[in-house]
Amino acid sequence: MMRAHALLVDRIRLPRWQRWTTYASFTLLALTGILWWTLDLQRGENPASAPQVWLLRLHGLAAMWVLICFGSLLTNHARIGWAVQRNRWLGGIMVAVTALLTITGYGLYYAVGDTMRLLTSWIHICVGAAVPALLTLHVWRGRNTRIALLAAAHNERARHDH
Ligand code: HEM
Ligand code: HEM
Repeated sequence: MMRAHALLVDRIRLPRWQRWTTYASFTLLALTGILWWTLDLQRGENPASAPQVWLLRLHGLAAMWVLICFGSLLTNHARIGWAVQRNRWLGGIMVAVTALLTITGYGLYYAVGDTMRLLTSWIHICVGAAVPALLTLHVWRGRNTRIALLAAAHNERARHDH
């Protein structure tokens, strides 16, 4: 069993281009979102400054880029990771959080009424602010499951060979 799962390790690990485009897109997304929010807290009653406007434009761009990366992770990374039960909790959380941010991001454009907009905005910002920590935890824990799996597969093989 362990050995069968170990054979799928390379299909869950990402090729370098995909790993770095995923990191880059999520980093740009989180940075532009958090910076926009920091400026918004200092803005008071003043209209949005030019940098703030640009941050949101960049944020929208990063959101579309993240969704391309996200889609590219679903076919192998997430599907096979889920099937062999590796990193399921933090993988599931990453999928749920990205989905929630996409829905609330959409809501920020189309939510009707002040209360609804405020609620959408708060959910989006609070969940969004947790993304860097969640992704870091996801990657760290995911790598540890690989090391543990490969060690277990190695032991299984050693037992079998003797
Ligand atoms: C938004 C969704 C997700 C994102 C952005 C994401 C991103 C990443 C990234 C960037 C890595 C590091 C890969 C590497 O170093 O090659 C990773 C590792 C990992 N992820 Fe995900 N992931 C997501 C969903 C999932 C799901 C749903 C699962 C499975 C249930 C999963 C399981 C794993 C595992 C097992 C690893 C460790 C791979 C290894 O180093 O062997 N991920 N993830
Ligand atoms: C990485 C974590 C994220 C953070 C910290 C973050 C933060 C923010 C902030 C502070 C705003 C402005 C809120 C407001 O106008 O009240 C915003 C707007 C928005 N976000 Fe995010 N966000 C994140 C992830 C995402 C994701 C994953 C998506 C969709 C894929 C997304 C899509 C949007 C959209 C469409 C807007 C509206 C832009 C506009 O009004 O022009 N965000 N985000």
